[in-house]
Amino acid sequence: MKIEEIKKLKKEKNAVILAHYYVDSEIQEVADYIGDSFYLAQKAVELKEYIIVMAGVYFMGESVKILNPNKKVLMPELLADCPMAHMIDVKKIEELRSKFDDLAIVTYINSTAEIKSHSDVCVTSSNAVNIVKNLKEKNIFFIPDKNLGQYIKKQVPEKNIILNDGYCPVHEELDLKEIKKFKENNIKILAHPECRDETLEFADFVGSTSAIINEAKNYDEMLILTEEGILTELKKKYPNKKFHTLSKSMICHNMKKQNLDKVIDVLKNEKNEVVISKDIREKSLIPLRRMLEMGTI
Ligand code: 13P
Ligand code: SF4
Repeated sequence: MKIEEIKKLKKEKNAVILAHYYVDSEIQEVADYIGDSFYLAQKAVELKEYIIVMAGVYFMGESVKILNPNKKVLMPELLADCPMAHMIDVKKIEELRSKFDDLAIVTYINSTAEIKSHSDVCVTSSNAVNIVKNLKEKNIFFIPDKNLGQYIKKQVPEKNIILNDGYCPVHEELDLKEIKKFKENNIKILAHPECRDETLEFADFVGSTSAIINEAKNYDEMLILTEEGILTELKKKYPNKKFHTLSKSMICHNMKKQNLDKVIDVLKNEKNEVVISKDIREKSLIPLRRMLEMGTI
């Protein structure tokens, strides 16, 4: 019933729904495109529809708007925010800029539009290593995620990567004793790079949500160390495989704020529009575009 209503509204309003793998399965079911942050940013620039409904967290809605200034970008719930996006401020960026001549501000897409507008290039977990490797600057201030930053630091030792203090509360503190037991039982461990270094040491594979889904094809049984919404796609794609999660669930409560009633409401009333000032929009488009160009090298 709700699904039918959404389908009808999408047609009437010339709208399309984008969703991240972490949102509830009911939204993944009605989404036209589901993916990781990089895929969603890439998809956003290819769409023909006038209204784009972004089911994810606020920085995702902002990124879609920055890349599509002439479209109406709506979010079922505007208050779905990623706390890590706020774990850096402009003052700190300026401090670092004043210390180095040869510095690139490399900003994880999980950041505010304002922070992006002060950055040299954006990255997601699926292209960060590649992009950092290809930058001409030796010094990199990687913001806001210290864990993804630490992961890149290990992969690209030739760069001087300066870390910030931000982190994702969902991936930060995991039970290492429990993870160790899975390892001892020879169960493959697939982890997101937002996990701490000490967690990633147990991992057989580290990658973005899309990369984890792709890697899962290689094993029959595995432990998944990222937000549990990813299980919707994993189970759909590999119905005969066995997926384990930690006993303490990894849930991003902000992603879960999106639901079907809110999707219907925003489509019907064209409300919850993402609005960004022209100045910030134009400045933040530069590092986002650069990511789209460099990310596919
Ligand atoms: P992905 O880019 O891997 O989809 O991750 C986004 C995110 O917010 C992880 O917590
Ligand atoms: Fe932010 Fe973590 Fe939620 Fe991803 S899982 S949106 S990084 S809080």
